Amino acid sequence: MIRVAINGYGTIGKRVADAVDAQDDMQIVGVTKTRPAFGCDLAVRKGYPIYCTYDDTDKIAAFAAAGYQCHGGLSDLLGVADIVIDCSPGKVGASNLEKYQQAGVKWIFQGGEKHAMTGMSYTSSANHAANLNVNGTRVVSCNTTGLSRTLVPLYHHCGELSVECTMIRRAADPGDSSKGPINAIKPVLKVPSHHGPDVMTVKPEIIINSMAVAVPTTIMHMHVIVAQLPEGHGLDTESVIEMWANEPRIILMSGGETGITTTAEVMEYARDIGRKWGDLHEIFVWRDGVKLEHNTLYYFQAIHQESDVIPENIDAIRALMGTEPDWRASVARTDNAIAKYNNIL
Ligand SMILES: NC(=O)c1ccc[n+]([C@@H]2O[C@H](COP(=O)([O-])OP(=O)(O)OC[C@H]3O[C@@H](n4cnc5c(N)ncnc54)[C@H](OP(=O)(O)O)[C@@H]3O)[C@@H](O)[C@H]2O)c1
Repeated sequence: MIRVAINGYGTIGKRVADAVDAQDDMQIVGVTKTRPAFGCDLAVRKGYPIYCTYDDTDKIAAFAAAGYQCHGGLSDLLGVADIVIDCSPGKVGASNLEKYQQAGVKWIFQGGEKHAMTGMSYTSSANHAANLNVNGTRVVSCNTTGLSRTLVPLYHHCGELSVECTMIRRAADPGDSSKGPINAIKPVLKVPSHHGPDVMTVKPEIIINSMAVAVPTTIMHMHVIVAQLPEGHGLDTESVIEMWANEPRIILMSGGETGITTTAEVMEYARDIGRKWGDLHEIFVWRDGVKLEHNTLYYFQAIHQESDVIPENIDAIRALMGTEPDWRASVARTDNAIAKYNNIL
């Protein structure tokens, strides 16, 4: 059994914890909270041991005072773990790296951290093999994960790929009450945005640039993608769709036939099929929004920002621990276990 610690039990941390709990080759040894607040009750209900994010005795004691059993500080948790999944807020994780190295555990950061900090990044389909047995990595952001899902198989077919994309980003997660914009469209003025080029941290051969805007929605990102394929690619619109249909973690549906024409309906679909928290680990591609004209491929895809990276963290654990060299085998094992655990329709 791989012993997994979750440092940061928020939006991503609580989801990764349950995905780990679903697997039969790994177990949760503890989750951290900065203080006895929102989130502790969920950990108690799930039976996950609570540890304090910090080692200070007064901060640890505050949990008991609030009625929660706290098993110690982060150092204590790292002492009983083989690997830690850092799910702390973006850019906070860097301050934890030294602690992980000193404790001698393996570590996985999330997309809010920079590739330069970890020197290694991960998506299941792009570079599982390169991550085998390394000490640490970074599961790329929800947007980069989504781009990789559809672009990596396309690249493998074509041998070269040049991509321009626009990320229409949700302003905040549903649980965030302090972020905006509420009534505005906010361009990311750093051009190109980091999302597209971040794909090159897991698949350097794909040439890609992106621009991004944040819009007032909390449910899903939308990608508008234009990819240039090389001469002689041998594909047409239908065979591109067929290729994606045979890849894991991509859902293809016709908006015209299903009536699922917006991100709101995609999320309703996820709730209808019983997905926990209304999550959708797969990337949603509209079949009727795909068009290949000569060498130019146009398509839209929707990304459930809070959840597409969750199963990737599980595959990354197996890569780092060296227990499953085949990414497709890991993906199948991860997804089947999660489906069984959540009793998905
Ligand atoms: N949310 C998304 O849509 C999304 C998607 C993909 C990737 N990511 C990435 O995933 C990471 C986590 O994001 P999130 O959305 O889960 O954030 P979040 O909801 O704010 O949760 C972060 C948690 O980390 C805890 N924390 C605060 N300081 C910490 C520290 N120094 N060490 C350890 N934990 C600490 C907080 O704890 P307390 O609650 O105990 O105070 C909070 O619960 C970020 O890198 C983010 O960029 C997020």
